Amino acid sequence: MNAMSSLVVARSVGIEYGRSVILHDVDLTVDAGAHIALTGRSGSGKTTLLLVLAGLLSPSRGTVTWPGLSDSPSTRRGEIGMVFQAPSLMPELTAIENVTLPLRLRGADVATARDEAAKALARVAAEDLVDALPAQLSGGQQQRVAIARALAGGHRLVLADEPTGALDRDHAYEVALALRDGVAAAGGALLLATHDPDLADMFDHQLAVRDGGVCPAVRSR
Ligand SMILES: Nc1ncnc2c1ncn2[C@@H]1O[C@H](COP(=O)(O)OP(=O)(O)OP(=O)(O)O)[C@@H](O)[C@H]1O
Ligand SMILES: [Mg+2]
Repeated sequence: MNAMSSLVVARSVGIEYGRSVILHDVDLTVDAGAHIALTGRSGSGKTTLLLVLAGLLSPSRGTVTWPGLSDSPSTRRGEIGMVFQAPSLMPELTAIENVTLPLRLRGADVATARDEAAKALARVAAEDLVDALPAQLSGGQQQRVAIARALAGGHRLVLADEPTGALDRDHAYEVALALRDGVAAAGGALLLATHDPDLADMFDHQLAVRDGGVCPAVRSR
C-alpha cells in the first residue's frame, strides 16, 4: 500500500484532560478499505481516540494526518462519517431528513438523496421509521437511523462508536453486519469501537485500547 491509501495516521499521539493522561504514544493507521474493531474497557479511551482520528479533538502531543483524504478540514469532515456513542440526530428533522442531510450538503439533488437515504434506512431495518422524529424513536431506533446516515453518505472512512450499544443482541449483530458490509460495498474503511468481544469477532482486524496505548487485540475465539 502506498502512503496515500492510508486514510488516517496517528503517530505518538497523547491525550490529556487536565492532569489525567488518557492516551499516550498511540500509533494507529487506518488504510483505505480496512475494517477494524476497536475494543477496550469502559473509560479506556475509545471515544477519545475516535474523536482525535476524526479531527474533532486535537491531540496533546503527537500528530494525526489524513494522507488519503482532503487537505481541507471542511471537505475532510464530509469524507469521514461518524456514528456517535450518544444520540446525535437533529431533533427537528424526521429520520429520513436526518439521513438525507449529509447527502444534500454534498450536493445531491432531493430525489437522489431521498432514494439513497431510503435504501440506507432499509439496510438497518428502519424503513418503517422514515417519518418519525427522533423524540418518537427508542434509543436503539435512533442508533439505527444514525447508522443509516453514516451508510448513506458513501464516506471514505466511517468511525462508529458503540453503534449497537442500545440494541438487543440479535439486532446488534444484524445492524453491525449491515454497517460492515454497507461500508465495504461503498469501498470505505470502518473503525468500530465496541465492548462486545463477539461483535469484534466479526472483524478480521482487531485492536484494543489498553493502558493508554493501542495494541493488537487478543481474539476471544
Ligand atoms: N471531556 C472530558 N474531560 C475530562 N475527562 C474526560 C473527558 N472525556 C473523557 N474523559 C475521560 O477520559 C477517559 C476515557 O474516556 P472515553 O470516553 O474515551 O472512554 P471509552 O473507552 O470510550 O469508554 P466507554 O466504553 O465507557 O464509552 C475516561 O476516564 C473519561 O472519564
Ligand atoms: Mg466511549
